[in-house]
Amino acid sequence: MTQPEVSVSGSMALCNETSAPGPNSTTVTPIAPSHAGTVVPIDRGREMGLPGMAYTSGRYLQRERETVFAQHWVCVGLASDVPNPGDTIPANVAGIPIILLRDRTGEIRAFHNICSHRGLQLVDKPCNIQGKIRCPYHSWAYGTDGSLKSTPHFGGYYKDSYDGFDRSSKGLAPIRCDRWLDMIFVNLSGNAVPLEDYLKPASDRWACYDLTQLRREPRELNYTCKANWKLAVENFSESYHLAWVHPALNDCSRMEDHFGFDVGDTHVGQGSLKYVSGQIEGRTLPTFDNLATIGKEKVAEYITVFPNLMLGVPPDYFLVMTVNPISAGRTQERLTFYFVSDEAMTPEKQALRHLPIDLWDVTNDEDITMIERLQTGRQSPKFDGGCFSPELEKTVYRFQQKIAEVVGS
Ligand code: FES
Ligand SMILES: [Fe+2]
Repeated sequence: MTQPEVSVSGSMALCNETSAPGPNSTTVTPIAPSHAGTVVPIDRGREMGLPGMAYTSGRYLQRERETVFAQHWVCVGLASDVPNPGDTIPANVAGIPIILLRDRTGEIRAFHNICSHRGLQLVDKPCNIQGKIRCPYHSWAYGTDGSLKSTPHFGGYYKDSYDGFDRSSKGLAPIRCDRWLDMIFVNLSGNAVPLEDYLKPASDRWACYDLTQLRREPRELNYTCKANWKLAVENFSESYHLAWVHPALNDCSRMEDHFGFDVGDTHVGQGSLKYVSGQIEGRTLPTFDNLATIGKEKVAEYITVFPNLMLGVPPDYFLVMTVNPISAGRTQERLTFYFVSDEAMTPEKQALRHLPIDLWDVTNDEDITMIERLQTGRQSPKFDGGCFSPELEKTVYRFQQKIAEVVGS
């Protein structure tokens, strides 16, 4: 590891919490930065991870919303979720309600999903906005650029305004929004580095793949699990558990065929050297071009983009997985799949496309069983943060280290 290695063991100041506030709580207890801890090299085997309360406390999640999720780029949806002008969906970032919409020019915009009048959630299901977004409560209406267009009777019956009412200051609150491939990212604080720079270590690593060939598969996987969101990220980031949790997967891609790699200072990566494409009667899916010439014919790589986006690129598809906390102990997971070129998307190839999706479904069920038990274990006062294999769990260590730095900052 090249960066300073900071123990994330747990002398955190946020303690004694018995009833965690929900996602809408306005009471925020500051978390002292003392848990940045002392510098302990990972290869001494003495370092410990985040304490249990980082996974069970509503207040810790609230702090993560203000730091981890507000200050970084977070993938909140897909451009193909809003394919047509006017298409609008509700989404959320760690419980903060937002709107994603495609305006008439084709640009994707994000707004906080609250009416400026009395704060009603404006959009509660996917829809196509023809003209204006109308609040169902008192019928205030907004343009797709967020501007407030009408406020019926707000100045009294049959008067839409009153002297001094500044309609221009009551538009929807915009959120910084950008895209990479099909993924829509938002940055709530508005002051993160440009998305392109944030993702550059990942996009550079995969510059050898022609990602313009990707086509979205209609079938996707969605889960709700009873575990903290970080456990899902950590589980994705290491292959140490493979032999015991995923015996079927381990048959074709063994633990020892895996490798880790750096993806800049913020993201982490790992991969397999022995990926085997699914076959039906000798047929396989099309793969990215030129993989043989760059030695990646059998390589599958996976990158965890901080904080909660996990990507995979085997030779014949591309995975986008997001995990989004509903509460400290509940997480939504979404997996979407892209295949390589139009040729992969024919009806005859559907069974082949479903092979890796079925495998992910089985694998993720196996993973969820484990992370839910990790969550239960974090209720124990004896949990001290655990420890990491210096060789096989560097990725988990670095992720927790980053969380501790950001939450404590
Ligand atoms: S809360 Fe939306 S119009 Fe009143
Ligand atoms: Fe797993």
